[in-house]
Amino acid sequence: MGQKIQSVKGMNDLLPTEQKDFKLTSAYWQAFENKIQNWTRRFDYKQIRTPIVEQTSLFVRSIGEETDVVGKEMYTFADSNDTLSLTLRPEGTASCLRAVVEHNLLHEAPRKLWYMGAMFRRERPQKGRYRQFHQVGIEALGFADPDIDAEMVAMCADLWRELGILQYLTLEINSLGNREERAAHRAALVAYLTEFEDKLDDDSKRRLHTNPLRVLDTKNPDLQEICNNAPRLIDYLGEDSKKHYQTFKDLLTGLEIQFVENPRLVRGLDYYNHTVFEWTTDKLGAQATVCGGGRYDGLIEELGGKAAPSIGFAMGIERLLLLVHEHGSLQVADFPDVFIMQQGDGATLQAMKYAKILRENGFDVAQFSGSTKLKNQFKRADQSGAQFALIIAESELANQEVTLKDLRGERGQITIPAHELISKLNEWKA
Ligand code: HAM
Repeated sequence: MGQKIQSVKGMNDLLPTEQKDFKLTSAYWQAFENKIQNWTRRFDYKQIRTPIVEQTSLFVRSIGEETDVVGKEMYTFADSNDTLSLTLRPEGTASCLRAVVEHNLLHEAPRKLWYMGAMFRRERPQKGRYRQFHQVGIEALGFADPDIDAEMVAMCADLWRELGILQYLTLEINSLGNREERAAHRAALVAYLTEFEDKLDDDSKRRLHTNPLRVLDTKNPDLQEICNNAPRLIDYLGEDSKKHYQTFKDLLTGLEIQFVENPRLVRGLDYYNHTVFEWTTDKLGAQATVCGGGRYDGLIEELGGKAAPSIGFAMGIERLLLLVHEHGSLQVADFPDVFIMQQGDGATLQAMKYAKILRENGFDVAQFSGSTKLKNQFKRADQSGAQFALIIAESELANQEVTLKDLRGERGQITIPAHELISKLNEWKA
């Protein structure tokens, strides 16, 4: 026997459902994905699918060289001809915009797009943090006004409500202003932090010169006071930025969506400006952010397209489903309606014919394959999770009858003329 090969660390299998225990199985994901299809349709967002591999330069230019994602977490490799550097996508926004620019999708009107799929970051794996994880992303491209910022948040709230988790999530918001405002704040922040340079830890010292805003993100308790007293970006916003932020907040209040202003919310990717937001929970331990996003008004131009102010967000499916599974609700249907068993000469063919008729009439059907005693087939029927068993044995074949058994309810077992099969099952299923 060959040695077993393990999956890659931080990358998980999604297994099929066993009996009635859905836990975090593929059926659970499918039920969630169906919700996402309907949800995006309700808000008139159209799906875009892009490759999992892109040129490395796309992520370096959009996410930013000094971010953790680009600096240390990307799966990057040389293509076989060695001249092209490729990367497994660590997020979806850059790929989506690359495609939009490449296919000139914004030439006539703004676009509302969504995507779903695997992303890759070489982080230290733990509960809720994986090296291959999955996101649903939403991008609204070519919209300048704050009403779309509010639509983003309202869209999230709508989904959380449907999944029964709204009450477990806190919405944090902030404004990062525009480029000039950020530059002025950055200068003030660097001057301030430099005064305390000997007190900073190694990470913060490095960030002071590369990405000073991220120093404020530190979890180090010794630095909290320094960070609390640091110059706040919000105090550097000009009139237009303030007005954009205020309108956004007024719309949220009008929509009765609760939020917390967090002046230290900066996000881990460099492309943001103006509105940023995150949905966090205290139910998942350290990996508390299930969804995050914001405006990136300059990014499309940065990627070679015509300037188009835009905003978007992405949720981590693993984190979200952990929360839904423990505290929310998601209906999962993963079992056949009918399990067909057969025994005797000619029973296999007759069972296959019934299976065909049943499927044509809208029933999900599992059929026993092979030949073994009916007793063993009953065991399989039970394991399948099916509601009903259809039994075709010698006497049923001889008398053009079928036997139906209610496997989960109180109806017991009945034998009826074969032509009544569909009407009886419809009656039982109702
Ligand atoms: P992000 O905050 O890097 O934003 O990721 C969005 C979400 O993906 C996080 O809130 C988290 O739920 C999930 N996530 C991130 N890393 C991991 C991981 N290692 N394991 C499990 N889940 C993870 C973005 O990616 C932006 N592209 C969002 C966006 C779209 N902004 C504008 N448009």
